[in-house]
Amino acid sequence: MLKAVELHKEFEGPRGKLHILRGVSLELKRGDLAFIIGRSGAGKSTLLHLLGGLDHPSRGNVEFEGEDLSVLNEESLAEYRNKKVGLVFQFYHLLPEFTVKENVELPSLIAGKSREKRSEELLKRVGLWDRRDHLPSELSGGEHQRVAIARALVNEPELVFCDEPTGNLDEETAESVHELIFKLNEEGQTFCIVTHEEDFAQRGNKIFRLHEGIVHEVTK
Ligand SMILES: Nc1ncnc2c1ncn2[C@@H]1O[C@H](COP(=O)(O)OP(=O)(O)OP(=O)(O)O)[C@@H](O)[C@H]1O
Ligand SMILES: [Mg+2]
Repeated sequence: MLKAVELHKEFEGPRGKLHILRGVSLELKRGDLAFIIGRSGAGKSTLLHLLGGLDHPSRGNVEFEGEDLSVLNEESLAEYRNKKVGLVFQFYHLLPEFTVKENVELPSLIAGKSREKRSEELLKRVGLWDRRDHLPSELSGGEHQRVAIARALVNEPELVFCDEPTGNLDEETAESVHELIFKLNEEGQTFCIVTHEEDFAQRGNKIFRLHEGIVHEVTK
């Protein structure tokens, strides 16, 4: 489904170049529950941004279903981000002035096709249908993340990327979000998730450890 080949990422900083990714290769297959682990600052979010088409690698390439993202123009890349993949960010990124339901429907509106039925189904799925008219400020952290997951799924993406989806939640709330992800994965949804929660990562069928700019697949 997705293949990263020899990805490099350098950032130009005030004190010179930072070479964060130094030849990352990995492969995701349909149905995977894949995890990316590694220390703070290892480059996990940077890697996810490259895989999700939010940023360009300095070298190397990302292929999605055989298509190299680097040859796509901005319009096609935006379509990749909007339709092929779903994104759940490290910090919530719900739009504060829109209701829960509007937040979930937003990607479908951007895609030019409102999906009211789908958003209703998803909000019921994540247990927040009765909160549909609330604003993000009226939600707890776990509820925020459940809305963010529903939003990432609204366009029926083939692959969902999550960056620390439960990093800021208490254990019990995190567990409920984990269970939701496991259930969706059992139903066939492919996930690639950054986490620092060891137990959560252990539930994956693939674990990639990012260390010193390189990824090693951890054998379980
Ligand atoms: N746009 C940028 N410009 C310059 N440096 C950056 C930029 N984005 C990230 N970095 C640097 O790249 C390194 C990796 O950052 P990244 O956010 O990918 O780490 P991470 O593994 O996700 O960490 P955490 O677990 O804390 O979220 C950091 O040292 C960061 O300062
Ligand atoms: Mg990060």
